[in-house]
Amino acid sequence: MSLQILVNKTHPLPADYIPLDLTLTNVPFEEKEYSEKKLLRTTAAAALENLFSHASHLGYSFTAISGYRSYQRQQEIFSTHVEKYGLEYASQVSAKPGCSEHQTGLAMDISLPSLSYQLLPEFGDTKEGLWLAKNACHFGFILRYPVDKVHITGYTYEPWHFRYVGIPLAIHLTKYHLTMEEIE
Ligand code: DAL
Ligand code: ZN
Repeated sequence: MSLQILVNKTHPLPADYIPLDLTLTNVPFEEKEYSEKKLLRTTAAAALENLFSHASHLGYSFTAISGYRSYQRQQEIFSTHVEKYGLEYASQVSAKPGCSEHQTGLAMDISLPSLSYQLLPEFGDTKEGLWLAKNACHFGFILRYPVDKVHITGYTYEPWHFRYVGIPLAIHLTKYHLTMEEIE
């Protein structure tokens, strides 16, 4: 599967798609035990390790929360959201199984010890979140669900969700403030 694959509400992955090159990502995680959440595709894992290492030299201690998710795990997460909040709200904050970038092994949710590892909009206002939104592209990642692109992505603002697309495309999308849906 291409590292630039578009996955969204109208471009789902096959239910049985599992990346062949999933690997443990060697960065600090909130979760201390082994978990599929710690997996990313090899190229994305190396890129995230590089990003975290660079950030730690600047004094930023990011914590990785959730990377790869199987179709089945996404099904559980989406169902839980529907049970709690109803289908309409659930669909704005959580992907239906097959439609999550987490199934690609190319997306990571990132938080901070100072936010108690929660995935909150406030992350985008921290110095770390601001730095990440601006600089993740130099490591091949984009902020996938910007606050002003909700009508295009179909998801509410997620300043914590970063998607690996490779450095040239990440720099292009960040520079022109485009989402993956807007690639010509
Ligand atoms: N929260 C993002 C959209 C996902 O579930 O993949
Ligand atoms: Zn995410």
